[in-house]
Amino acid sequence: MGEKISLTHSESLLHEERTSVTAWFQEVLRETHARVRDCVPGPAEYKDVALVVAAGTLAAGVACRALMLRGATVLEQRGLSAPIAASSRLEYSIVPLSRENLAGAIQTVNESFRHGWPYLRPGRDLRASLEATGCPRTVASGELNAKYWVAVDKQNRVLGTTGIYEMAEDAAEAGWVGWLGVGNAYRGHGVGRALINHTIEAARAEGKDFLRLYTSNHRAEVAAQSLYDSVGLKIYRTEPHFIPFSGLKIHYRELKLH
Ligand SMILES: CC(C)(COP(=O)(O)OP(=O)(O)OC[C@H]1O[C@@H](n2cnc3c(N)ncnc32)[C@H](O)[C@@H]1OP(=O)(O)O)[C@@H](O)C(=O)NCCC(=O)NCCS
Repeated sequence: MGEKISLTHSESLLHEERTSVTAWFQEVLRETHARVRDCVPGPAEYKDVALVVAAGTLAAGVACRALMLRGATVLEQRGLSAPIAASSRLEYSIVPLSRENLAGAIQTVNESFRHGWPYLRPGRDLRASLEATGCPRTVASGELNAKYWVAVDKQNRVLGTTGIYEMAEDAAEAGWVGWLGVGNAYRGHGVGRALINHTIEAARAEGKDFLRLYTSNHRAEVAAQSLYDSVGLKIYRTEPHFIPFSGLKIHYRELKLH
């Protein structure tokens, strides 16, 4: 016979309370399991398997998300993806697009023109400008001899992009601005102005009479309109955007260079 254990009054109350909480918790689990199980479609014998798979997938998703967040924090702490503070002074130079800065340039230009997805593919044009064959879309739409530059800081991070190309119909007199954009984190520091001034000088150095571009009244391009106005790139033609019913308009602008 086992020894009889006698509990004090307070010990037995505590024991009862623990037992009842545990019982209540088990009951809730049982009920929840039964309800969730009822909701799972399919034959009864597979319902538990489906529940285990769903729970596993959910747990894996949560774990991945946690790892990604941790990875981003680590990168930021190492300064690899840390945005430059708005008050810091940016030091950069404008250099030709090259294979070394291509990936950063594509990332920047895609970010700047995200509002035009999916009909704009600026990254493709940048890549094609480094290849002898050119880009089929670019060639088909008459854009020729494209050259691009990037603004890079001391760590070789690409802050912004610009370019110049010719159109078959006015190649003798004009250069066109291509993919002027500044990464979100670097805007408002004068990079965009430096890039458009660089493009103006490049067109002048090529002996062009005009620098032209087309832009739109899309709200993501509002900042560009005051930049263009301020350097004398004036609207000379406006037409409806090719996306119907959008209310969007295309503005053509030009600057006389001589
Ligand atoms: C347009 C863009 C390149 C400007 O780059 P940025 O480095 O921020 O510009 P800057 O700091 O050099 O500012 C130059 C001028 O742009 C205009 N500008 C810049 N930010 C602006 C804003 N938030 N609102 C209105 N105008 C703005 C101002 O005229 C400014 O001149 P100021 O500083 O003397 O006032 C950038 O906003 C961008 O990449 N936009 C999305 C892509 C795009 O629209 N490209 C052109 C399509 S045709």
